[in-house]
Amino acid sequence: DRSIKIAPSILSADFANFGQEIQAIEAQGADWVHVDVMDGHFVPNLTFGPPLCKAIRPHIKTVMDVHLMIAPVDPYIEAFAEAGADVLTAHLEAGPHIHRTLQAIRAAGCKAGLALNPGTGLDALTHLLDMIDLVCIMTVNPGFGGQKFIHSQVDKVKTLRAMIGDRPIHIEIDGGITPETAPLMAAAGADVLVAGSAVFKGGSVADPAPYGANIRAI
Ligand code: DX5
Ligand code: ZN
Repeated sequence: DRSIKIAPSILSADFANFGQEIQAIEAQGADWVHVDVMDGHFVPNLTFGPPLCKAIRPHIKTVMDVHLMIAPVDPYIEAFAEAGADVLTAHLEAGPHIHRTLQAIRAAGCKAGLALNPGTGLDALTHLLDMIDLVCIMTVNPGFGGQKFIHSQVDKVKTLRAMIGDRPIHIEIDGGITPETAPLMAAAGADVLVAGSAVFKGGSVADPAPYGANIRAI
């Protein structure tokens, strides 16, 4: 279903060739480019920071969707905005002042995203819906690509879709998206699907055609 946006996660790309990998996935039909920022503290893995985002920004023609799996968040918002993030997503679980964080993200000129871990309920969204542009429902525990989809999140997305009503808020799903799990989330009301391993498997910058086949299969 092409009304659904596919956002390949470059966590599954060839780290020695980010520029070419991004050009390849966009040429093969990616709608957004998802960048997983991990700090070795909020999640048990380390990836990239603002300098990497800034370096890849000129290669991205679509949307740079930056997923911050870091705590604290606030000291780094300005740097990621300056690096060219279009969407900047922070985790609800990253600190006690998510309201302030979301205000700061919009003040920095980015779309504000709010990510929820699989164990986090939707209740806390009630007072935040008017300050967010995207909700990211994690369908794995964040930290690594290639994990198994957590099915309990399908009903959560249906409930979220009803909560959002007419508001112009994207519902993004992140983790374990495959041709099998994607239709469940599309039916539940998601409109942006992040996929890492399922997009990059079988392809390379030398042979990017599998990326396109993988994107179309989702
Ligand atoms: C997980 C990341 C995801 C991950 C998705 O912490 O936020 O974006 O890269 O990878 P797959 O699609 O392989 O589950
Ligand atoms: Zn992510």
